[in-house]
Amino acid sequence: MSVESQRYVTLIDHQKGESYDFPLMSGSEGPDVIDIRDLYARTGMFTYDPGFTSTASCGSSITYIDGEKGILRYRGYDIEELTEHSDFMEVCYLLLYGELPNLAQLSNFECDITHHTMLHEQISNFFKGFRRDSHPMATMVGVMGALSAFYHDSLEIDNPKHRMIASYRMIAKVATIAAWAYKYSIGQPFVYPRNHYSYAENFLHMMFSVPTEEYLVNPVMAKAMDRILILHADHEQNASTSTVRLAGSSAANPFACIASGIASLWGPAHGGANEAVLNMLQEIGEVKNIPAFLARAKDRSDSFRLMGFGHRVYKNYDPRAKAIQESCHEVLKEVGGGHDPLFDLALELERVALEDPYFIEKKLFPNVDFYSGVIFKAIGIPVSMYTVLFAVARTVGWVSQWNEMYNDPTQKIGRPRQLYKGATYRPYLPVNERKR
Ligand code: SDX
Repeated sequence: MSVESQRYVTLIDHQKGESYDFPLMSGSEGPDVIDIRDLYARTGMFTYDPGFTSTASCGSSITYIDGEKGILRYRGYDIEELTEHSDFMEVCYLLLYGELPNLAQLSNFECDITHHTMLHEQISNFFKGFRRDSHPMATMVGVMGALSAFYHDSLEIDNPKHRMIASYRMIAKVATIAAWAYKYSIGQPFVYPRNHYSYAENFLHMMFSVPTEEYLVNPVMAKAMDRILILHADHEQNASTSTVRLAGSSAANPFACIASGIASLWGPAHGGANEAVLNMLQEIGEVKNIPAFLARAKDRSDSFRLMGFGHRVYKNYDPRAKAIQESCHEVLKEVGGGHDPLFDLALELERVALEDPYFIEKKLFPNVDFYSGVIFKAIGIPVSMYTVLFAVARTVGWVSQWNEMYNDPTQKIGRPRQLYKGATYRPYLPVNERKR
């Protein structure tokens, strides 16, 4: 960029009477950024941004979100078009490689992923170390992290081939790990993947089939599952993706990095919200109780929040919530009657909340987690597995962002600073001289 066209912002320290120019950088779309990489070196000051509400941690080409307009795009393709026309395997390829695959690329990719879905037989012993009533997310964190104890042939992260083998293995195996975590929790035998199934069909097969009878995958459920996987696949620099990038910046092995993402996603403020929404809807129980729960959500002295509502970036309707709501109608029709009291309650809760001045003023709309629990329940997924499903889908996003971070020449170990508010120097006092 020519010097004339370079735009700057000026920071003025009125106390010291000093001013500093910092260059502005523009992406292909979205907010410009102020390049402050040498701020501390030049000014001796840090920025202060707890929760990174105004901080771009990296440059990325994977996912674009416009929170005001409710736009979500993977590599430039609108999420609505991808859920309408694509499938999860094609979206995985798109997120990983940046382009939609041609027929040969897609078929080779699907074949590679399919042939990595089995787990090393000894890994089944890991599951047996957990209590049957463990939360399956604990099993997911443990087993994903333990994969590095088995797959030594893909741990040299400076080797692009190793990075891709490890990436394929995690995308392929995360669904098997998830289904086996569920089977273990209900005391049923592990079900092995079958190569003739699609990714979504295989997951349903491993979750619900039993050795005693033929299991037929319901095509409506499989299509809904595939759409849910697409909708949850990636989402820019959210908490769990930022966790993966930070772990990756220390050159930790890929399995450990993705395990850290699973751990971060588990929180009810993040991916754990889908489980929390179902529990909240069951606690609300019926429409007449909605006003009391809304009052609690608006009461700052009450820690209760309306789960599935609000978002750091979306200040408009989360496009994923809209897509999942549509899928709910299809799946509920399939499971008979098209009605589920919890879905009706969720629709009424949304209607009342979106008319409430508090939610309007704070721009709190349903997010991806608000309806996903309703559809998971209709498919037969138990509540404890909702966040696990989110992790299955998001693994491709975490892996894609980890690879992008690794190939970013500007990348260095993530090491934020702080605003220190603790004690200044004080001499050590022997215990007998300290205040009683
Ligand atoms: C995901 O980042 C991502 O992209 C995440 C995700 C992804 O795909 O990776 O989209 C997935 O995590 C979706 C979010 C799921 N979480 C929930 O549904 C939990 C409920 N939502 C809230 O906890 C909250 O909205 C967050 C955590 C999602 C966002 O929090 P922010 O951006 O930090 O906003 P905030 O907490 O500063 O809230 C702003 C105001 C506050 O009031 P004031 O202090 O200004 O008076 O809005 C209020 C909050 O109290 N508020 C809510 C609310 N969410 C925010 N009040 C009631 N109910 C809510 N749900």
